[in-house]
Amino acid sequence: HRHLLGIEPLRPEEITTILDLAEQYVTLNRSSAKHSEALAGLTQINMFFENSTRTQASFELAGKRLGADVMNMAMQASSIKKGETLIDTALTLNAMHPDLLVVRHPNSGAVDLLAQKVNCAVLNAGDGRHEHPTQALLDALTIRRAKGRLHRLSIAICGDIAHSRVARSNILLLGKMENRVRLVGPPTLVPGAFREFGVEVFDDMREGLRDVDVVMMLRLQKERMDGGFIPSEREYFHRYGLDAEKLSFAKEDAIVMHPGPMNRGVEIDGEIADDINRSVIQEQVEMGVAVRMAAMDLLARNHRARAQPEGVMV
Ligand code: CP
Repeated sequence: HRHLLGIEPLRPEEITTILDLAEQYVTLNRSSAKHSEALAGLTQINMFFENSTRTQASFELAGKRLGADVMNMAMQASSIKKGETLIDTALTLNAMHPDLLVVRHPNSGAVDLLAQKVNCAVLNAGDGRHEHPTQALLDALTIRRAKGRLHRLSIAICGDIAHSRVARSNILLLGKMENRVRLVGPPTLVPGAFREFGVEVFDDMREGLRDVDVVMMLRLQKERMDGGFIPSEREYFHRYGLDAEKLSFAKEDAIVMHPGPMNRGVEIDGEIADDINRSVIQEQVEMGVAVRMAAMDLLARNHRARAQPEGVMV
């Protein structure tokens, strides 16, 4: 592949290749060295048109640890504010010969559109409610490490599915790897159309969590609710917030995940989030750096292989 725009075009063996390389980067990141030269001489530009803590920081660290020249565009201070379009901005940066563009944008499809206009590899860091592929990959690596496998697991994705690119990318990835995916949440936030992906849908948390291996909680994404129905936070926590009582319906060794940012006391009880025996939320963040290193490394290798046809394609 030239770009990483979503999970949709990836084959299961390609997902495994990314995760296997990411494992090597987990080891490197835990060593005192932390650095390699995989992206030496390459230029990475991060363009975040929407707020981010984890994704932006980990893409930046990933590029620096691989020896790339990394530039973070301050989009709030860019000429976008003067009316320049996304495509003109992308073409302007493209003229500076970057090798990797990392893009987050509030509109679904905006990153795909941009990828068609530039010469370099584009990585989708989240576009609207469409896809967040590196999030799904880091979640997959976290699950594989905790459970020892990434197939035949029962995984509940809970909360605001309707507005979530994280849910969409995870549903695609976990389905490709032959897991059983359940969606749990209020009917207004769990579109029935997702059934076409072969998932089961529940509106009762206790039923939905019964005997699952993995509980993945999602935030209410009010910024994408377009003035529609927003549940009261108290009522939402009572019915759909993950607490010890609801979690007791899952398997005894079920892990708790959350992509962040977390709203404690809304979709998850703070004590569950901090329980190191159940919660792998900090591991997810750690895996994020390694997965982004692997994704950029593989795209750079593909780029070199195209330049030299005898090279190895992944
Ligand atoms: N999970 C995630 O995408 O977090 P950020 O919005 O902080 O990058």
